[in-house]
Order: sequence, then C-alpha cells, then structure tokens
Amino acid sequence: MENRIGKRPIIIAIDGPAASGKSTTARILAGKLGYTYIDTGAMYRSVTLKVLRAGMLDRLRHDDREVAGLLEGVDIEFRGDRVFLDGEDVSEAIRENSVSREVSFVSSLKPVRDRLLELQQQMGAARAVVMDGRDIGTVVFPDAELKIFLVADPRERAKRRHAELSLKGGVDAAPTVEELEEEIRKRDRDDEERTHAPLKRHPDAVVVDTSLSTIDEQVSRVFQLAMNVLEG
Ligand code: CDP
Repeated sequence: MENRIGKRPIIIAIDGPAASGKSTTARILAGKLGYTYIDTGAMYRSVTLKVLRAGMLDRLRHDDREVAGLLEGVDIEFRGDRVFLDGEDVSEAIRENSVSREVSFVSSLKPVRDRLLELQQQMGAARAVVMDGRDIGTVVFPDAELKIFLVADPRERAKRRHAELSLKGGVDAAPTVEELEEEIRKRDRDDEERTHAPLKRHPDAVVVDTSLSTIDEQVSRVFQLAMNVLEG
C-alpha cells in the first residue's frame, strides 16, 4: 500500500481510557501520514446499536449466545469520517447516550470481541493504519511497530467531553462536568476489570499523558514518535 511518506508501512496502535484524546490524535496523525484511520470504538458502538435495535440487550445479560446470529452478517465500513452499519450511515446514532451507556457491556461479550477482532485484523492486514481502542496493542496487533498509551486526568477528560457535548447540543443540554467524570470513571473501571481483552498498557507502549497538552502538542508528540519508528 502506498503512503504519503513512502516508507515501509507500519501499524500504529493507540490505546487508552475514555476521552483521553485517542480519536482526535489518531485521525490527525493518520491524515499526516497518509494512513487509514480505524476507530474500533465506533465498531463496538455500531454493534451496540444493532443489539439495541434488535431489542436483544436484556436477554444478552443472561445468555450471550444469541448475539452470534446478529454478528454473522454484520457489515461495518468506514468511508472518510463516516461509519456505515449494514450500509446505513450511523455516525451520529452511535454517539447517542443510549449507546454510550451500554457499549462497555456489549464490548465485554466474548462473541462480540471475537468477531470484531477478526474484522479489525482484516482491516489492518495491509498495514499503513492508525487504529485506536482499548486492546489494539495488547490483543489486535501486539506486533504493531508503534504502540501508544494515552492517559489523562479523569477531571480533565470530563471537561473535554463537556466542551465537546456543549458544542454539539448546547451547554444546557449537556450533562455536568461532575456527571461526566462519574461516567468516565465507571467506564474506565468496567473496561479495566472485564475478563476479555481488558484495557491494559502493553509493556512496550509509550505512555503519553495529555492532561496538560493541547491537541497540537499531543499530535506533534505522537507524530515525532511515528517518524522515529519510520526512519529508524
Ligand atoms: O467514548 P470514547 O471515545 O472514549 O470511547 P470509544 O473509543 O468510542 O469506545 C467506546 C467503548 O467501546 C469503550 O468504553 C469500550 O468499552 C469499548 N471498546 C472496546 O472494548 N475495545 C476497543 N478496542 C474499543 C472500544
């Protein structure tokens, strides 16, 4: 595959907790390198939406086998910045609160992880990708040439999420910073404590703390790390 800087294509895995700036960083980095950006959180969100629409959520809490049928023919595709689920543009629908509330649960199911693992490995097979999520460096591509683990103070992450939601729906419609911090801490706990592919730093991953950085600063830092690998 061709990429803008004409070097041997690599895989860049970016993991980290909720609202740590992964997707913004990953998207800009991919653009600068001429790489494909794959947002695996959007894939888990799409499956969650599909489960909700099928009215299957409560049954899955007792028995997750039913989800296998739903996953068999699932089609998730990225076109530019948009995500398509079975041909429908779900880019906005997957960010709704109803999905955010249940995505950690749906992501913890083994059949869901197995199916998305397979899809993600296919998507990255030609390399030249920046993939972000929770388990990219540990499970999906443990051989990624560059692994980054983004962290940030939970309060800071809640403030960023608040700013993002206020921008979209107006400050009055957005939950408070305190509520968002509570939600973020809960999701971190759920993601870290689950049995299958928990959120965990790979020992080789470079930790980048973004609590005090602007987007520009964190992008330059990861771009520099990528250039070191590409030129090394
Ligand atoms: O809301 P935020 O952008 O921080 O999260 P996301 O990247 O959209 O991911 C949503 C949820 O999907 C996470 O909280 C995880 O429960 C799950 N997820 C996962 O289990 N494994 C991944 N590789 C990516 C996301």
